[in-house]
Amino acid sequence: MPTESSLPTYHFALIGEEMDHDYWRLVGEGAKDTEAQYDVLVEYGGPRRSNPEEQLKLLDIAIKSKVDGIMVQALNDDFLPMIEKAVNQGIPVITIDTDAPESPRSAYIGTDNYAAGQLAGRTLVEDTEGEATVGIITGSFDNAHHRLRVEGFQDVVEGEEGIEIVAIEESNITRVVAEEKAYTMLNEKPDITALYGTSALDGIGMAAAAESLEMVEDLYMINFDTLEENLQLVEQEKIDALIDQKPYEMGYRSVELMLDILKGQPVQDVYHTEASIVHKENIDQYKAQASEVP
Ligand code: BGC
Repeated sequence: MPTESSLPTYHFALIGEEMDHDYWRLVGEGAKDTEAQYDVLVEYGGPRRSNPEEQLKLLDIAIKSKVDGIMVQALNDDFLPMIEKAVNQGIPVITIDTDAPESPRSAYIGTDNYAAGQLAGRTLVEDTEGEATVGIITGSFDNAHHRLRVEGFQDVVEGEEGIEIVAIEESNITRVVAEEKAYTMLNEKPDITALYGTSALDGIGMAAAAESLEMVEDLYMINFDTLEENLQLVEQEKIDALIDQKPYEMGYRSVELMLDILKGQPVQDVYHTEASIVHKENIDQYKAQASEVP
């Protein structure tokens, strides 16, 4: 059993959206890997499946356990009072993956979700040569990052005469619902020529729906996250483009940032990690680069 003196000096809690998800596995791995480098213990947790209420409970437990710092994905406004509670009790909070800029958090690390939505929009415009009738599958209408990814996308394509968004539905962050919603959408609006998915599992659901309807070849598809399954779908030409985020880096750097805060070093308000596009044409290059970083 470790004695008190053998325990790391700093004890942090990282609370993500869902444990049973490759994206969050990478965030957790990044954060846990800092333990080999720094005097920290990172307790990484979250609901098994997306469940904001349970996520808030875990946040409350971390506050009650008096950890030295909390990193949390701030899904929506319900997280504000809990972030305030932590800060009022002297526990600094960093938001990760999804920001709550109006909360008293010390900093945000993650994708610029609005800019990533714009990037998706610009990519769709280029790839379809400015001609598309678009359906959107978004993780959730309530969650800040998905809303920003839709807004950024809308703001770009709005200026394009040949592009129209004709439908938008929620997937509740599950591939099954993404598939159901995409299936119904494509049936009800047969003029749709392109689908945009804002959450990691949306593309898998969209591709499955397109396959059942034998529409894969007619549809342009773009969605978030370079999960292994999504990369395979790009290789099979079922998905046309992916927006890559940097979950491992978010996790790793969030711990470094928290250490800086606790040591009284100045930190920026916002640290944006990179978002970029993966097409079939650059997938080998992408994989080679990704294998250099865990
Ligand atoms: C988002 C995460 C989300 C994950 C799973 C990612 O695109 O950035 O917030 O938990 O998808 O849906």
